[in-house]
Amino acid sequence: MPSFVMPTSNQGDGHPSPTAVSAVGLRKSYGDKTVLDGIDLHIPAGSVFALLGPNGAGKTTAVKILSTLITADAGDLHVGGHDLAADPQAARAAIGVTGQFSAVDGLITGEENMLLMADLHHLSKSEGRRVGVELLERFDLVEAAKKPASTYSGGMKRRLDIAMTLVGSPRIIFLDEPTTGLDPRSRHTMWGIIRGLVSDGVTVFLTTQYLEEADELADRIAVLNDGKIAAEGTAEELKRLVPGGHIRLRFTDPVAYQSAADALREVTRDDEALSLSIPSDGSQRELRSILDWLDSAGIEADELTVHTPDLDDVFFALTGPANVPNQPKESLR
Ligand SMILES: Nc1ncnc2c1ncn2[C@@H]1O[C@H](COP(=O)(O)OP(=O)(O)OP(=O)(O)O)[C@@H](O)[C@H]1O
Ligand SMILES: [Mg+2]
Repeated sequence: MPSFVMPTSNQGDGHPSPTAVSAVGLRKSYGDKTVLDGIDLHIPAGSVFALLGPNGAGKTTAVKILSTLITADAGDLHVGGHDLAADPQAARAAIGVTGQFSAVDGLITGEENMLLMADLHHLSKSEGRRVGVELLERFDLVEAAKKPASTYSGGMKRRLDIAMTLVGSPRIIFLDEPTTGLDPRSRHTMWGIIRGLVSDGVTVFLTTQYLEEADELADRIAVLNDGKIAAEGTAEELKRLVPGGHIRLRFTDPVAYQSAADALREVTRDDEALSLSIPSDGSQRELRSILDWLDSAGIEADELTVHTPDLDDVFFALTGPANVPNQPKESLR
């Protein structure tokens, strides 16, 4: 069994916590195209980290570098406490990787795919079989185990992919878009699987196009754009970066709409939709004072909805061709 010695770092609360993955000044170019322009990452052991970014931002490139599949041009990189430049073998022994594109061999059965992985990890025949059976059970693939993997659904293939990644009992796993193409139920199943791994103490580095997924799973999220980390933090911290929280009042009667619009002058009007939006942080206290205010002004809307910024707002604000933060969807008049 490889050793898993991890350096510690201070997380700001005075308690040092072990670091599973760290990168300082990570750079990678292809020809004259700079993909990663000196990025820093720091992932505490046992946490879930999500890397977001538009297509082509360099997410897969980052995963491939940190999982030793390709080398960086520069950067001080440590995975599982091992220096990637000095000892990539040791880092490799601590990790598992599920690529963006399936590693499942469709010509052989699920069981055979598992045994192949066990062989790659130099497990004995009996140990390989034991681990294979256990993982196939855990991922609800027992019934399908003897069928060619080419006959599996997308969700089954993805589960087999992750089961194969876990054969070597990695302490750190990289999941490159683990739920792309899965239906909502399969996606939730996958989230359950990922949460299970985390509760076993595994560190998860995932990339995703689904902001909801990062919101659900990740302790920390980084948004990659134009070769740099555009923002990094918890989902809540990222959401605070963008404006856009508001309360929307919708009317069906144009006369009621007009009198409300006249009474509430500091609002954004949408004359076509007969709706007014009032900037708000969405807190209970503010909501109550707005409701009181509407009551006292004699305004009764047909519909009232509270909008808080979500990760989509963050994504649009931080990424994009010119990387200019979007204006809030409505501006104050
Ligand atoms: N082997 C390669 N040779 C040349 N360019 C490459 C190579 N691999 C990746 N690139 C380029 O690097 C950039 C980043 O690619 P990467 O696959 O890391 O993006 P990504 O963020 O994973 O995108 P997606 O969301 O589409 O999966 C792209 O412009 C891509 O064309
Ligand atoms: Mg990718």
